[in-house]
Amino acid sequence: MGRTRSHWEDVYAAKSERAVSWYQPHSVRSLELIRTSSPGHTASVVDVGGGASTLIDDLLAQGFADLTVLDIAEAALARSRARLGREAARVSWIVADVTQWRPMRTWDVWHDRAVFHFLTEGAQQDAYIAALMAAVKPGGTVIIATFALDGPEKCSGLPVQRYSPSTLAARLGPAFFLTSGTSERHWTPAETEQRFSYAVLQRRQ
Ligand SMILES: C[S@@+](CC[C@H](N)C(=O)[O-])C[C@H]1O[C@@H](n2cnc3c(N)ncnc32)[C@H](O)[C@@H]1O
Repeated sequence: MGRTRSHWEDVYAAKSERAVSWYQPHSVRSLELIRTSSPGHTASVVDVGGGASTLIDDLLAQGFADLTVLDIAEAALARSRARLGREAARVSWIVADVTQWRPMRTWDVWHDRAVFHFLTEGAQQDAYIAALMAAVKPGGTVIIATFALDGPEKCSGLPVQRYSPSTLAARLGPAFFLTSGTSERHWTPAETEQRFSYAVLQRRQ
């Protein structure tokens, strides 16, 4: 098992859903951005590094029918599947490292909250962008949330690369353009503030 994978499997084995710093009862900002930037419930959505987030539960409840969650940690996806029960069969689940992933299809919306920022080396970022290019339809939407420029320097004990919406757009390159950027103050379960940047981008046709 690779070091990244074992880190995350260990995190999910050791900590409950509500004990992790990134926990949100509902992914309110992400839901709003998916709703306002996608063509509606018919949009296909892939949640990259979705972990045990309830984003997928809420998208199902809102009528989205083509949903995929990818994560490096099988334990994270198992937790979401257990929470969803029979509804889990309506979702595609992929255990993969996004930097090595070769997508077999394309999606209208790529969502990533707090995954890209772990990639601190240029080659890892390039590999993520290659997966993104293979997975998102021309004209499709990319929503990425990272720690903001004034956010924490580490997440889950790992160093992160911090971004503003515009530095994130610059890193993704000319195949995408920034349609909106916002910031968010996330309060962890331990009541520490973490500042996030959310970038919504569109892939050029
Ligand atoms: C900080 S958590 C965020 C989880 C979720 N997006 C949320 O907002 O609740 C980061 C997630 O990314 C996953 N992850 C980390 N590196 C990854 C990689 N290279 N490929 C796929 N998933 C990864 C972890 O297992 C973890 O579930």
